[in-house]
Amino acid sequence: MTNKYLHIVFRDEENLFEGIDLLRANDFSIVDVMTPFPVHGLDHKIGLKPSLIPTVGFICGAIGALTGFFFQSWVFTSSWPMNFGGKPFFAFPSFIPVIFEMTVLFSALGMVLAFLYRSKLYPHKECSTEKVPITTDDQFVIKLMKPEGEKLTLLQKLVNELKVKLDNPEIAISEKLTFFNNKIVALVPLAFILCFSSCKNNKEQPGYEYMPDMVYSRSFEYYSANPLDKSKSMAKVPPVGSIPRSFTPYPYPNTKDGYEQAGKEWINPLSSNDIYIDEGKKLFELYCVYCHGQKGEANGILVEKQKFPPPPSFSSDILKELPAGKIFHSITYGKNLMGPHASMLSYQERCKVVLFVQSLQKKL
Ligand code: HEC
Repeated sequence: MTNKYLHIVFRDEENLFEGIDLLRANDFSIVDVMTPFPVHGLDHKIGLKPSLIPTVGFICGAIGALTGFFFQSWVFTSSWPMNFGGKPFFAFPSFIPVIFEMTVLFSALGMVLAFLYRSKLYPHKECSTEKVPITTDDQFVIKLMKPEGEKLTLLQKLVNELKVKLDNPEIAISEKLTFFNNKIVALVPLAFILCFSSCKNNKEQPGYEYMPDMVYSRSFEYYSANPLDKSKSMAKVPPVGSIPRSFTPYPYPNTKDGYEQAGKEWINPLSSNDIYIDEGKKLFELYCVYCHGQKGEANGILVEKQKFPPPPSFSSDILKELPAGKIFHSITYGKNLMGPHASMLSYQERCKVVLFVQSLQKKL
């Protein structure tokens, strides 16, 4: 069987470039050039058009960014508005990480799919091009249509001239390339043995650990034994009765009795005035309006969108007479469906919110 193609084998890429120039100048038709690594400028040399992959990447990335932006805007303002520590629903800065991830994801997937589509690749496809293992090792091969008659003689002459010119006797013309490099094949089982030798059957043992210092912290545990004085621990236990700075103790526990007791005994340390009520109003608008509504009439956005059952209105008979202590207690610990707000509002802030809630009770 006669072969349709011829191969010219080179040892390094500079000689390869000279060879390509020579062949193109003499009108030989180059089918493909196979190299062990991407060679800069090769596509240009053999006259390929620039790839469209970067454009596809940009378009898909832009689609990803827009999808991320519009999806989050829709979810957080319309489909499922959620109150994160009083932030506005349309909080653009917090959308950015997801937009970024979506951009990268869409662009990467888009480019891979475009590449597979353009190269007509799919799982289990038979390889239609010739396999030339030496080009995955250390040699460069130009594949060209086998010329006939005079042109073949010309090719042989040109290659011989090239050998002399580049002083490189290794350049060769070959019909079929079947070399295989056994050195590489021998390395494969060796790599497997190395990988598996680090595994152990015993699950308690981590096997071979690479850089254990990076995995296990060398710091002391808070209350571990003190190496300087074995009878003491690293951190000192604070004296009985110590409280953190700027922390105001609240003696009523999160129980029914605590709630009742707070209602009877708790006195707001802040006296009611317009400034405090105004500050309380601002905090109420950040943390409470979503459920309770601007005026405490149980018509917040979450209730209107039916994402949350309506709380009692501040004008209802039960809440109208609710004492300050119970209001404070419920804000601190939460009540049934209403969550605790102690971690979001300081003691002082809760006092101000109580003043504002009471001003609503009076107005209604
Ligand atoms: C997630 C929705 C939601 C948010 C946010 C919310 N509440 Fe409530 N609130 C409720 C619900 C529901 C109830 C009714 C609880 C019950 O009695 O079962 C309630 C009850 C109350 C009561 C009556 C408590 C009692 O002891 O009967 C007060 C006062 C109150 N909320 C104030 C506030 C204040 C002030 C804020 C903001 C710091 C706030 N709520 C934030 C849903 C909410």
